Amino acid sequence: MFDHTKYQPFPAIKLQNRTWPQNQITQAPLWCAVDLRDGNQALVEPMSVLEKQKIWGLLIDMGFKHIEVGFPSASQTDFDFVRWLIEEDQIPSDVTIQALVQARDALIERTYEALKGAKQAIVHVYNSTSPTQRNKVFKQDKQGIINIAINGAKKVQQESEKYPDTQWTFQYSPESFSSTEVEFAVEVSDAVMNIWQPSADKKAIINLPATVECAGPNVFADQVEYFCQHIKQRNSIIISIHTHNDRGCAVAAAEMAILAGADRIEGTLMGNGERTGNMDIVTMAMNLYSQGIDPQLDLSDAARITNTVEACTKIATHPRHPWMGELVYTAFSGSHQDAIKKCLAIQEDNATWDVAYLPIDPKDIGRDYQSVIRINSQSGKGGVAYILESEFGIIMPRWMQIEVSVAVQKHSEKMEGEVNAEDIHQIFQRQFVKPSHHMPDEYYQLGDYQVQRQQGLSQHHKEHIQANLNTPQGCHEITGYGDGALQAFCQGLSQYFNIEIDIVQFAQESQGRHSDAQAMAFVQLKINGNRYTCAAKQQDSLGASLMAILQATNMYLGQQKKAA
Ligand code: KIV
Ligand code: ZN
Repeated sequence: MFDHTKYQPFPAIKLQNRTWPQNQITQAPLWCAVDLRDGNQALVEPMSVLEKQKIWGLLIDMGFKHIEVGFPSASQTDFDFVRWLIEEDQIPSDVTIQALVQARDALIERTYEALKGAKQAIVHVYNSTSPTQRNKVFKQDKQGIINIAINGAKKVQQESEKYPDTQWTFQYSPESFSSTEVEFAVEVSDAVMNIWQPSADKKAIINLPATVECAGPNVFADQVEYFCQHIKQRNSIIISIHTHNDRGCAVAAAEMAILAGADRIEGTLMGNGERTGNMDIVTMAMNLYSQGIDPQLDLSDAARITNTVEACTKIATHPRHPWMGELVYTAFSGSHQDAIKKCLAIQEDNATWDVAYLPIDPKDIGRDYQSVIRINSQSGKGGVAYILESEFGIIMPRWMQIEVSVAVQKHSEKMEGEVNAEDIHQIFQRQFVKPSHHMPDEYYQLGDYQVQRQQGLSQHHKEHIQANLNTPQGCHEITGYGDGALQAFCQGLSQYFNIEIDIVQFAQESQGRHSDAQAMAFVQLKINGNRYTCAAKQQDSLGASLMAILQATNMYLGQQKKAA
């Protein structure tokens, strides 16, 4: 039964004069990657030590300083991995590893055994605090839950004293914080801090998890702001946030939590984690980056990030995953392509990025522009023109772009799919440069030609052309007069083939900027009432123009032959 009355709205947080909506994020938070713990716990096939090593290498290279490396008291693989990190001296001096443990004595002891020998480490202890967990899972009242937290905190402290060579940081999570009465979350956390007695020089971390995201990100921000306002010893505590993505707002909730006073963010690369995942650090860090804030993480190698995460989690990246999906810098829509093409053409190298439909420069994360514009039946002239220009150096006038894009669109509709750059070039060649509408034995090629300016003739007969048209059967000579060489040529063709020719559109574009630049001419002729569009490339612009006119005539003749 699809029945919404089974559910109830999340109660609003009683917060007077909330400040977070007025705040702005101005710097990156302290990141903590939990791929190797929370992300790993959520995998169908948890990572092997080898896979954990690969993720570890990536996290270190990206610049993470806090990394939760596992739940060593619950998993032998995690225990072995932590031992490998320490025994093989894999932890850079500015990186602190973190291990999760439930607030239970034996598990805390085992966690310290795993961490033995680390220069510095965070022991992350948690117990669940929400009414559902209290009443149905642990069957404890509030005091019972506080006692579990206090006992865990004491044990964490006692065990740390056995390993004085390690610089310990303690972290406490009131698990299911997002579903806990915020006053109670403060009460439990205060009780834990009372045991640990953190100071401004030796801070403890309180991690506030949206274990299940059960309200809007604004409600979570209210919870965090309330917590920050009411927790004692705020200056001795790092407030950390750990959001899950049940409502699809884990990133939004984490960002708003920063506005509400949090200092640190836990999450995973690409958002793997229980159910709908953990907060995606890549997305949040790129959100900051795209606002001109240094994310303090190196995200420049998107391919390495996605390939490593995919290989180790066996979860494919959605092609439209924010910032890193395969299709996120690709435009199929004609109007988007047109706008991108225009903006890219004037975007200067070191100027502030301002390109329609591209919130960042794809090159920043190792993408090129080749995939930015891809063509399907939704694409328009801008995209097709962009591909021909960027990939094949063919610069077309606007009216020609329309002609070519119609041909490409038809092809795409017929093929029911995407058309790649090579296809587009072939369509252009076949339909406009070497039209296949005519039979080969009737194909006229431009031979030698001479153009002479005729002095003193009437206004309409200024140029005279004499040209040879070659076919496999022999050479045909035509002559004509006209206002210019092109008109003269058309007049010669018109007379020779006994057809009516008008030039409807004409343009020349130089292709390339160097001394070996070639000329390309584009013509649209009306021959006996029908339109024919052609393009031709030659060393000189007159030759290219005459060739294009002759190709259009070839097209007409071929069609006539076919029809006969
Ligand atoms: O989601 C969660 O509540 C957790 C805690 C153990 C921090 O992963
Ligand atoms: Zn979690």
